[in-house]
Amino acid sequence: MSERAVRNERYLVTSALPYANGPLHIGHMAGAYLPADVYVRYLRMRGEDVVFVGGTDEHGVPITLTAEREDKEPQEVVDYWYAHMKETFSRFGISFDNFSRTSTPLHAKNTQLFYQKLKEGGYISEAESKQMYSPTEGRFLPDRYVEGTCPVCGYKEARGDQCDNCGSWYEAYELIEPHSKITGGPVEVRETTHLYLDLPKFSDRLRAWVAQQDHWRDSVKNFVLGMIGGGLEKRPITRDILWGVPIPEPGFEDKRFYVWFDAPIGYVSSTMEWAEFAGDPDCWRRYWQEPETRLVHFIGKDNTVFHAVVWPAMLMGTGESGEEPFILPHDVLANEFMNLEVVINGVPRAMQMSTSRNLAVWLHEALDDFPADLLRFYLASILPETNDVNFSWREFQERVNSDLIGNLGNYINRTLSFMERYFDGKATHPKEPSESTREALADFRELEQRYEARMRAGRPRDALGELLAMGRRANRFFDSEAPWQSRKVDPDEARETLYTCSVLLGSIAYHAAPFVPEAVERLGRFFSGPIAHISDLEALPDAYSAKNAKPLFRRVEDAEIEAAEKRLSDAAEG
Ligand code: 2FM
Ligand code: ZN
Repeated sequence: MSERAVRNERYLVTSALPYANGPLHIGHMAGAYLPADVYVRYLRMRGEDVVFVGGTDEHGVPITLTAEREDKEPQEVVDYWYAHMKETFSRFGISFDNFSRTSTPLHAKNTQLFYQKLKEGGYISEAESKQMYSPTEGRFLPDRYVEGTCPVCGYKEARGDQCDNCGSWYEAYELIEPHSKITGGPVEVRETTHLYLDLPKFSDRLRAWVAQQDHWRDSVKNFVLGMIGGGLEKRPITRDILWGVPIPEPGFEDKRFYVWFDAPIGYVSSTMEWAEFAGDPDCWRRYWQEPETRLVHFIGKDNTVFHAVVWPAMLMGTGESGEEPFILPHDVLANEFMNLEVVINGVPRAMQMSTSRNLAVWLHEALDDFPADLLRFYLASILPETNDVNFSWREFQERVNSDLIGNLGNYINRTLSFMERYFDGKATHPKEPSESTREALADFRELEQRYEARMRAGRPRDALGELLAMGRRANRFFDSEAPWQSRKVDPDEARETLYTCSVLLGSIAYHAAPFVPEAVERLGRFFSGPIAHISDLEALPDAYSAKNAKPLFRRVEDAEIEAAEKRLSDAAEG
């Protein structure tokens, strides 16, 4: 069966690089990884040229804080979590083309090169700055070692560089009542020398560029325009810390680049590493330097300022020294947050995840209990694309049992078992399609288009809604044609029904594949016929067949949910 090979667009898709300092939880997955993976899997199926890169963010204070807390070297911390995260991503089916890490020599070289180019472009300056100093510890404290009250919203546990509550980004000395996170003791402001990125020089270009991005989410666009409107400031790109990329300047031996300076460059380094592995070391340039490439960043909303303001400025600033400029992001898909529904004494309550209190659904643990596809399906159905959402184990059970199994799985099962039971596992092409067949196919073509539009717009949750509509339409067709009756009076008619059901099944499986890839792969072992977009089929096949079909999904039982809920309520109360 020939399918249309499109291959007319090139994409580079990235997911935020998680700090290599702890296990992944479902909030990570919902923000930056699952939506990117579903999107990428779909683009690949459509024949587009896609590279999907990721990796761990291994520098900065999040890492040194963990190392100090655990009395380990930072290297030991990142080595352990790099391997752990890589494995968890793979168990969850996140199909990175390359999963790198920011502690590689290649990445250090790239970071220094970006710096040199920005400097040559006149975007770097040196200045004294105020930094928090802990007299009792005898050292400068990086932002994350400092905590205090947010100067913008009054949140009491605001971090030194950013407020988790309102997303504001500020200097640590602006915090109200700042204190050391390690000792709890007071901190004072002292002078130190740092290198600065001259963001104000990019204001006009950034504003003009962002204003043209009609396809961006309003939340992201307004955030960026608001920030530029409020006036950008020079931002320090170095820190008083010894863990990170060294700064190629005399006098900066005991400082390192700020983690947010090197982290996004990690996307470039990961792509270069991929090109190297692919045996074509220079081909990364196609993805970063050819203007037709669409660079799409998937992130959680707390990373918006870095991806939609600072990083584009860095890309603009490195492209001016006579070499090929880098492309700018085509889209920055910032997702909202996922909270948890915790059931305490039978009453469900929405709570913020807290890794320190162990109040989270850890991916590696959830994967011990449930197949990845079930978790992927539920998470995809509640992705925080436009608003904060709650993860609820009870709802997980409902969605899996009623939508995934009751709607999609049931349709696939009833079609295949009917075929096997009464038609020797075969459905052959009818001579003349009936009116109801033509209607069902026409409805499916429309649903496929709606699905495609949503998916291409980076809204997999909405695309999943169209997939469920396909399942309902297909079940309705099966019900109204009632092959269990027609097979007794008119077997040809029943055979025709099953043939149409198989065409619909092929389309459902195709559109389900980005969400539940493992199940669709298994389906291919007992169902033969095109798993395809109906609109792509140049001609319908002569026959479909099924052999030894088995249910694709298992039900989620009450006892499993009770146990999972209990883990959360224990953590919340503990
Ligand atoms: O917020 C975080 O977890 C960061 N480590 C994300 C970095 S994204 C990118 F720029 F690398
Ligand atoms: Zn705040």
